[in-house]
Amino acid sequence: MLRPWHRGDAPAVFDAYQDSAIQHWHVRAMTDHAEAEAWIASRSTQWREETGADWAVVADAALVGRVGIKRLELSDGIGELAYWVMPAARGRNVATRATTALAPWAFDVLGLHRLELLHATGNQPSCRVAVKAGFRRRNDATAGPPPRRLARHAPPRAAR
Ligand SMILES: CC(C)(COP(=O)(O)OP(=O)(O)OC[C@H]1O[C@@H](n2cnc3c(N)ncnc32)[C@H](O)[C@@H]1OP(=O)(O)O)[C@@H](O)C(=O)NCCC(=O)NCCS
Repeated sequence: MLRPWHRGDAPAVFDAYQDSAIQHWHVRAMTDHAEAEAWIASRSTQWREETGADWAVVADAALVGRVGIKRLELSDGIGELAYWVMPAARGRNVATRATTALAPWAFDVLGLHRLELLHATGNQPSCRVAVKAGFRRRNDATAGPPPRRLARHAPPRAAR
């Protein structure tokens, strides 16, 4: 289930950002629960300012991951998918199912015409999520800092 973030998610968000893979691929760490609370508060700010749309992914009332659209530009109709999954919940298609649920909403409700999915070329689990969610690998790009080779995927429907 996808739901809005709550302040009470701070301990679980803090735990998530102790994971080395999340730290590495999302290029950030958290030092205390206050930082996790600020991260959660920034989700609401982004929603209000229409610059991002982010959800907690929950199973059996426990936080298992995050899925969202960052770099949201409603005036241009573009955004970029973002996700992470708690280490204990990985390998159960959580990210794939969350991505599959969010993409149609982004087009049909939010009205985007382009939804990007970018991952570092070395991030094989993320590439698998993209492929299993039906996104075709389109081209590669370089971004940074830190300098990173990124693979860009296009959503299932060819026109997008
Ligand atoms: C990438 C990530 C979101 C995938 O989430 P997930 O819910 O485990 O995704 P899936 O269950 O669809 O599995 C995707 C791939 O992860 C790999 N995987 C499976 N179990 C795993 C485990 N226990 N630990 C790590 N990777 C695993 C497999 O390669 C799998 O592909 P497969 O189904 O072809 O075997 C998750 O590994 C994660 O949070 N990684 C760290 C943060 C990150 O990379 N975010 C994305 C940045 S672009």
